[in-house]
Amino acid sequence: MRSLPSYGSWALVTGASSGIGTAFTRALAASGVNVVLTARREDRLRALASELAPRVETRVIALDLGLEGAPLRLADAVADLEVGILVNNAGFGMAGRFEQASYERLLEMVRLNCTTVTALSRLLLPAMRARGRGAMIVLASAAGYQPIAYGAAYGATKAFDLMLAEALWAENRGSGVDVLAVSPGPVDTEFQAVAGESPHAGAKPEEVVRVAFAALGRKPSVVVGSANKLRAWSVRLGPRALVARIAATVMRANVPAEALR
Ligand SMILES: NC(=O)c1ccc[n+]([C@@H]2O[C@H](COP(=O)([O-])OP(=O)(O)OC[C@H]3O[C@@H](n4cnc5c(N)ncnc54)[C@H](OP(=O)(O)O)[C@@H]3O)[C@@H](O)[C@H]2O)c1
Repeated sequence: MRSLPSYGSWALVTGASSGIGTAFTRALAASGVNVVLTARREDRLRALASELAPRVETRVIALDLGLEGAPLRLADAVADLEVGILVNNAGFGMAGRFEQASYERLLEMVRLNCTTVTALSRLLLPAMRARGRGAMIVLASAAGYQPIAYGAAYGATKAFDLMLAEALWAENRGSGVDVLAVSPGPVDTEFQAVAGESPHAGAKPEEVVRVAFAALGRKPSVVVGSANKLRAWSVRLGPRALVARIAATVMRANVPAEALR
């Protein structure tokens, strides 16, 4: 594994106010990389920045990344920094029947999980390529490896993230820019509550970060956890109808009954 500071002196972490993004931020700071923290909850970002202040420089940018134009505003706000590592992490899920989901919230999810990831990658990649060094990490999901009934649009956004990152890995080979899609299964964060899932056990966010940094520069994507790896690979072999039905059964167990009616 390359040392993280060798990618550049600054990292930008979206969704740094909670869960996996907070864990990425702490790990980057621990390795001596300065961090731009962005999400909507400014109080949380400021508290985390204060925690890291003795060790590295930080910049807090409170922003709703689901709004049109937000990626351009964010890129402008870091234009004076050498951002060598982009962690495209901000995202959320929605559990339940597709036709009952809030129309606005559904489109907000697609914008945040897909459009913003695409936009930030497009805006920050040229400088990395010009410098001949950089890293882009995209939080995909084990949910992106198969159709996920009762989380249909969320799973599709994560399939998008997975394909985007793997393709960018191939495009950027040999350029000095490493791209990685990270696909955890359930992780113990605010994700389940925000998505409206029933609580179920998950990995620690720090484990996701450890696996991601171990894989960065070595492969296009990594699935976190051996059971999730096995599932991600096994669905390639099964008939798609069977895979979709099994995934629906698994999801039904994780979604409150009222959201299934
Ligand atoms: N936890 C899991 O089970 C799991 C599994 C696979 C993949 N993932 C992926 O991992 C990523 C991080 O999720 P997490 O588990 O850490 O969930 P989390 O604890 O809910 O954190 C989500 C982060 O995204 C930020 N965010 C949400 N909406 C935003 C918006 N409109 N603008 C800016 N920031 C926004 C939140 O900050 P604010 O609310 O302060 O804006 C928060 O910092 C997501 O992309 C998720 O799809 C999670």
